[in-house]
Order: sequence, then C-alpha cells, then structure tokens
Amino acid sequence: ELNNRKITLFSLDLLPRIARAQSMDILSSMSNLAGYKSVILAADYLGKVFPMLTTAAGTIHPAKVIIIGAGVAGLQAIATARRLGGVVIAFDTRPAAAEQVKSLGAEFVSLETKHDDAEDVSGYAKEQSADFYRNEQAILSRYTKDADVIITTALIPGKRAPILITEAMLKEMKPGSVIVDLAVEQAGNCEASVPGKIIQSHGMTIIGLLNIPSTMPIHASMLFSKNMYHFLHHILPGIKDGNYDLSDEIIKSCLVAMDGEILLPSIKQLIEKG
Ligand code: NAI
Repeated sequence: ELNNRKITLFSLDLLPRIARAQSMDILSSMSNLAGYKSVILAADYLGKVFPMLTTAAGTIHPAKVIIIGAGVAGLQAIATARRLGGVVIAFDTRPAAAEQVKSLGAEFVSLETKHDDAEDVSGYAKEQSADFYRNEQAILSRYTKDADVIITTALIPGKRAPILITEAMLKEMKPGSVIVDLAVEQAGNCEASVPGKIIQSHGMTIIGLLNIPSTMPIHASMLFSKNMYHFLHHILPGIKDGNYDLSDEIIKSCLVAMDGEILLPSIKQLIEKG
C-alpha cells in the first residue's frame, strides 16, 4: 500500500550490526530496557527477596536466577539481578556470550556449540535442530528445578522463538517461582506463556507481558528519539533530493522501498508469496 503511494520506507529493525550503526540501534535500546524491567517484574511477583540477608532472626539465602539468552536483554537482566543480590546462571548458544556473562559476575553454562554453527555474520543466533533443542531442554532442566526466577530472552530473527521450558520442566520447578518470558513477542520460550498475560501455572507465576519498554516511556522515548536522530543525521544528505547513497551498508540494509519500487529482495519475496 505504501509502495502504491511511492513512499520512501526505511525499517530500523533491519539495521546491520556494525559499530557505525550502534548509535541508531533501536532494537538494542528497547532490549536493554526490557532486560532491566524483567528482573524488577520478577522481584515484584516473587514471594522472596533477592539478596542474602543475615539477620538476628536467621539467614536468608540469595535468590537463584537463571537467564536464558545472554544478548542485549539477557545481559542487562544479569546485571540487574546481580545488583539486587541474586546468584545468576546464564545460557546462550553463542560461545561469544560466555566472556560477557562472566564479566557481570554470573556463571555461564556452555551448550557446547561452535562459533560458526551458533551465530551468523551479523552476530544473531542461528536456528538449531529439534535434537539440539531437546538436548538443551535436558541440560536446562538440571538447573530450572532449583530456580527462583527464570528470565528467557532466546530469539532467532524472523522465526518462532525456540521452546526451551516445557510443561514437563514446569511441573518439576519450585512452587512460588517466577518466569518472565521476554521472547513472548515471538511466541515465547516457555510452553505455558500466554502473550499479554500474567498467569499462574503449576504454582508458579509466568509473565508474558508484551511491549515491556512501553512501561518505561520516559527512557524508552529518549533512547528511541536519540537512535532516530542519529539515523536521520546519517541519511540526511539524501532526504531532500531522494538520492540515497545505496553503497552505504546502513542505508542499503534498511531502505525497504523507494519511488514505488521495493528494493529489498527479502521483502519482495514475502509480498510475492502473499
Ligand atoms: P536476540 O534478541 O536476537 O537474541 C537474544 C539472545 O538469545 C542472543 O544472545 C542469542 O544468541 C540467544 N539465543 C538464541 N537461541 C538460543 C537458545 N536456544 N538458547 C540460549 N540462547 C539462545 O539478540 P540480541 O540480544 O539483539 O543480540 C545478540 C548479540 O548481537 C549481542 O550480544 C551482541 O554481541 C550483538 N550485537 C551487536 C550490535 C552491534 O554491533 N551494532 C548491536 C546489538 C547486538
């Protein structure tokens, strides 16, 4: 429809993951905020405190927190859970995440993937086989039994999020524990998650809220507008006369349509398929 009106269309979720584009990266800005809020939500619904407390009445053990997917959202969730005093264990298919997880004071559990099998050239995770996910569920279940909080963020661009927490695993978890499924926008990492809802299942709270960054509108808008400013500043020379530099990697990746023509082959294919 936009194309019929000869509108020039950029899509910022198609930004390449290169150093020059970092200041424009709206997905990272929003993931960062969502990662922070996921821990605050979990702390609110958990009937326990996060830090270890030594009191005259007895000692309280720190909350055990599991983070599945240590990308932008996951790393911010680790940092926030650590600040609150939780003991954190994190998982990711990308071996490169290990160092970042450890630098935040959390334990990294390897899923035994090799770098080239785990991530594509842009740093995004590659989809794995059904066998891989079954094996991952088995590894995770050794840890989820003891967890107080699980935050899931595992995504594959353009695909349904992999199911990593099954109903069978939920049955073995501690009553009172909390799962925050940040992957719910792409159907969720937890089999029981309901998009847009907070539900009780097997004595646990499962939070599947959508658009979590919108609950922090001041900082979400501030980061979004700064990203947009940097993007507009970058494409500025082409705005007046429509002569965008198509050899520029940022412009080339995000320019979906111009002058009534769809430029991106991936979008063209989708439209042709209907
Ligand atoms: P994302 O939101 O697409 O996915 C979240 C995380 O889930 C990723 O770390 C992914 O590896 C992990 N994951 C996927 N399947 C999994 C599974 N089965 N089990 C466990 N974990 C799984 O990714 P995000 O957070 O947007 O970025 C990933 C990485 O990309 C970052 O850590 C960073 O290294 C890189 N990046 C680079 C940027 C740049 O250079 N401009 C900007 C932002 C991120």
